Amino acid sequence: ADARKDLDALPKAELHLHVEGTLEPELAFELAERNGVDLPYASVEELRRQYDFEDLSSFLELYYATTAVLRGSADFEALTSAYLDRAAAQGLRHVDLFFDPQAHTVRGVPLTAVVEGVRAGLDAAREERGITSTLIMCFLRDRPVAEALELVDAAVAQPGLVDGVGLDSAEVGHPPGLFEEVFARARAAGLHVVAHAGEEAGPEYVREALDVLGVERVDHGIQCLRDPALVERLVRERMPLTVCPFSNVRLRVVGELADHPVLRMLEAGLVVTVNSDDPAYFGGYVGDNFRGLREALGLTDAQAETLARHAVDASFAGPGRRRELH
Ligand code: HPA
Ligand code: ZN
Repeated sequence: ADARKDLDALPKAELHLHVEGTLEPELAFELAERNGVDLPYASVEELRRQYDFEDLSSFLELYYATTAVLRGSADFEALTSAYLDRAAAQGLRHVDLFFDPQAHTVRGVPLTAVVEGVRAGLDAAREERGITSTLIMCFLRDRPVAEALELVDAAVAQPGLVDGVGLDSAEVGHPPGLFEEVFARARAAGLHVVAHAGEEAGPEYVREALDVLGVERVDHGIQCLRDPALVERLVRERMPLTVCPFSNVRLRVVGELADHPVLRMLEAGLVVTVNSDDPAYFGGYVGDNFRGLREALGLTDAQAETLARHAVDASFAGPGRRRELH
């Protein structure tokens, strides 16, 4: 018998989760039919066979293409609820959830439909399962800064619409510093601020996210390992890094799971957390990531508990809720 703990029973917070990245092929086909959208694949199996990526941008191409099936608020609610059902079964107790408004507004889907639907899913999970959440609007860094400025102004004008802002999409060539003004407006309004940095691009992007954007957490951040002085700073400042092991392997940032540096990062004193990023595309949800680390790297129960505690501490759940989750 396995004396080790059931990792799904470990209460978890997830801090790096793109709701669009939870769209499983089965739901994609169901929504395509409901909305009369043509998916260029014959079957669920054929769509799933496309999930073999070269790098971040080859993933993003498919990710944005399949979002075409999401049209109205009911679709976003169904998507969010399906994610929460799966994650709840793996111990999820809190999520700071990302969404990409521009992936939808460019297709004529209004921001309010997206937010209403996602919030309905989050609210139901809070009432029915006690899962708490915050909502983070991410700007696509490979689209014009002017669009992000419009979005942040809309968020600031409607308090409660979102709880924070983030920065994602194709990283190399789109450094954080481009979004200085966007993030300054978000911070001035009291919104939480995070950014993807150091996923494919180097340590200088992580430094910019800290120094120019003033982020509270760094999403991915694993390229910090190329710069020992930066690692030392991240340790000293207790800056949380939202690491996504399955994502890094599938997007070929890391060779295989057995090579993943997450436990070395933990031993170095970094405030690392484990997250699923785009679980429908990368082979599993948050508990699956923990299990993968146990199988490939010998993650101990004590290390799993430390990783889970880091996530609670670094989450945007309020102080009362964070205490409750400990
Ligand atoms: N990186 C950048 N942008 C993204 C990702 C990611 O891992 N997932 C969804 N958008
Ligand atoms: Zn991400």
